[in-house]
Amino acid sequence: MSTASIDTHTPIYVAGHRGMVGSAILRTLNRDGYTNLITRTSDELDLRDQQQVNTFFSQTRPEVVILAAARVGGILANNEYPYQFIRDNLTLQNNVIHAAHQYGTERLIFLGSSCIYPREVRQPIREDSLLTGPLEATNEWYAVAKIAGLKMCQALRRQYGRCYFSLMPTNLYGPNDNFDLKTSHVLPALIRKFHEALPDKEVNLWGTGSPLREFLHVDDLAGAVVHFLHHQPGHDFYNIGTGKDLSIYELSELIREITGHTGKVNWDTSKPDGTPRKLLDITRVKETGWSPSISLRQGIEDTYNWFKSNKSHLKEVHIE
Ligand SMILES: NC(=O)c1ccc[n+]([C@@H]2O[C@H](COP(=O)([O-])OP(=O)(O)OC[C@H]3O[C@@H](n4cnc5c(N)ncnc54)[C@H](OP(=O)(O)O)[C@@H]3O)[C@@H](O)[C@H]2O)c1
Repeated sequence: MSTASIDTHTPIYVAGHRGMVGSAILRTLNRDGYTNLITRTSDELDLRDQQQVNTFFSQTRPEVVILAAARVGGILANNEYPYQFIRDNLTLQNNVIHAAHQYGTERLIFLGSSCIYPREVRQPIREDSLLTGPLEATNEWYAVAKIAGLKMCQALRRQYGRCYFSLMPTNLYGPNDNFDLKTSHVLPALIRKFHEALPDKEVNLWGTGSPLREFLHVDDLAGAVVHFLHHQPGHDFYNIGTGKDLSIYELSELIREITGHTGKVNWDTSKPDGTPRKLLDITRVKETGWSPSISLRQGIEDTYNWFKSNKSHLKEVHIE
């Protein structure tokens, strides 16, 4: 892999900078001394509107785009609003990727998700298992959009030599996570449930607790994004994870210990578990010199502290 650094004055557009991922990327870029960061909220710039996106690119001409804007949610939201998940994600990413190409953006990093991989796939999941089987039905709307984004970047790279590529993170957690129980992922949901049951109220959890999952602190992902500002990618996309998994039961016990909850935990085994194991193979990204540095305990403690300081003004996710 060759290196090609982006200097600290390069105009960098971080799309989705108020989200969990975008805000972590912004924090890291600020910390590392990047001075020309461009951001817009969705109120200022609706990325689903191609006209607005083109005007924005023609005025700001970012040399680097980090595409962390997306319609994101857990199983419930994906299941209930399939059309919003596929439409919003396809539209906004197409608008941004195409405008970046048209207005000469040199480097674009598209953020996808590990749900792009087939449901029944050999573990740990390698990048070459993309499109080798059917997707998990509950979030295939979202996954199809993410695969399309990856392919858009791949096509521009192949046909026009653009340095556009994708990072596929595992389950993320951290400050600015979504703690709304109707739409949240498992880790923030567990933090909220145990916290609200303090000191010893009963907690009801879904499934058997046996599925194995991997979790990456969002600051580690942000570190990977910045790493790829300094490295020329040798591949179209990279898995980003820890390479380690644990059961949902083990995760719940860790969170219970960190929150200090001492009550009873009931597992509702009539509720679905989802896929038994999901772990990314991170050999490809490790070969570029990146690896995660935040332990799960340290990361959950950090996230729990953030939750306690911010619980009075947590974001609510509205889907229309
Ligand atoms: N969370 C995870 O566990 C996870 C795991 C793997 C991959 N990822 C990927 O990381 C990326 C970001 O996820 P996240 O967890 O940070 O999501 P998030 O917290 O929900 O943030 C999403 C951001 O997207 C912006 N956005 C949504 N629709 C928009 C629109 N129409 N126009 C402009 N901006 C829009 C929002 O901007 P405003 O705040 O201004 O409204 C928001 O800040 C996604 O691509 C996701 O696939 C996330």
